[in-house]
Amino acid sequence: MTKMAIRKATPFDGPGIAAVMETVAAERVYSAIDRPWDVSAQTRYIESLSARETLHVAVRGSSIVGFQVLDQWSAIDSMAHVGQVGTFLLREWRALGIGRELWTATEAFARTAAYRKIVIQVRASNAGAQEFYKRLGFEECRQLKQQILIDGVADDEILFEYFIRTS
Ligand SMILES: CC(C)(COP(=O)(O)OP(=O)(O)OC[C@H]1O[C@@H](n2cnc3c(N)ncnc32)[C@H](O)[C@@H]1OP(=O)(O)O)[C@@H](O)C(=O)NCCC(=O)NCCS
Repeated sequence: MTKMAIRKATPFDGPGIAAVMETVAAERVYSAIDRPWDVSAQTRYIESLSARETLHVAVRGSSIVGFQVLDQWSAIDSMAHVGQVGTFLLREWRALGIGRELWTATEAFARTAAYRKIVIQVRASNAGAQEFYKRLGFEECRQLKQQILIDGVADDEILFEYFIRTS
C-alpha cells in the first residue's frame, strides 16, 4: 500500500488543491468558502505565499487528498505573531489521522516562522471540526453570530486560538 506523504505545496499542486477545495465546498456544510478558487487562482495564491506562510498537502501516490494552509491573520504589524489555519480533506480520507499529521508539519513551521498563536474560525454547525481543533489543543474563544450565509441559511462562526509553546 502506498504511504501517505505530507509535504509543502508547490505551484504545481494548484490543480490538486483546487480539486479538494471544490469537493469540500460542494458539500456545503463544512466551510465558509462557498465559491472556491479555480486552478489558476489557487496556483497564484501558492506562488504568492510569503516566507512566513505555507500550505502543506497530504499526498497518496500522485493524488492530493487534503491540505492545511497557514497564513497571517492580518497584515497589521502588531498582529504579525498571529497566524490562521484551514484544513480540508476529501471525505474518504477523514478520521485517519491525516489532519493531525498536517498539523504537526504546520505547527513546526509556525514555530520557526515566529508565530506565537494560531487562530481558526469554524462554523458552529461543524461539530466534527471543532472537536478536531480542540484535540489539537485549540481553545474556544467567542462566537460570531450569523456570520455566514450559504444557500440562504445562516450559520455562526466560532473562534478558537492556540498558543505556541516556545520552550
Ligand atoms: C476536520 C478535519 C480537517 C479533521 O482531519 P482528520 O484527518 O479527519 O482528523 P484526524 O483523524 O487527524 O483526527 C485528529 C483528532 O481529532 C479528532 N477528530 C477528528 N475529526 C473528528 C470528528 N468529526 N468528530 C470527533 N473527533 C474528531 C480525532 O478523534 C483525533 O483525536 P485524537 O488524535 O486525539 O485521537 C477533516 O475531517 C475534514 O477535512 N473535514 C471536512 C472539512 C472541514 O470540516 N474542515 C475544517 C473547516 S474549519
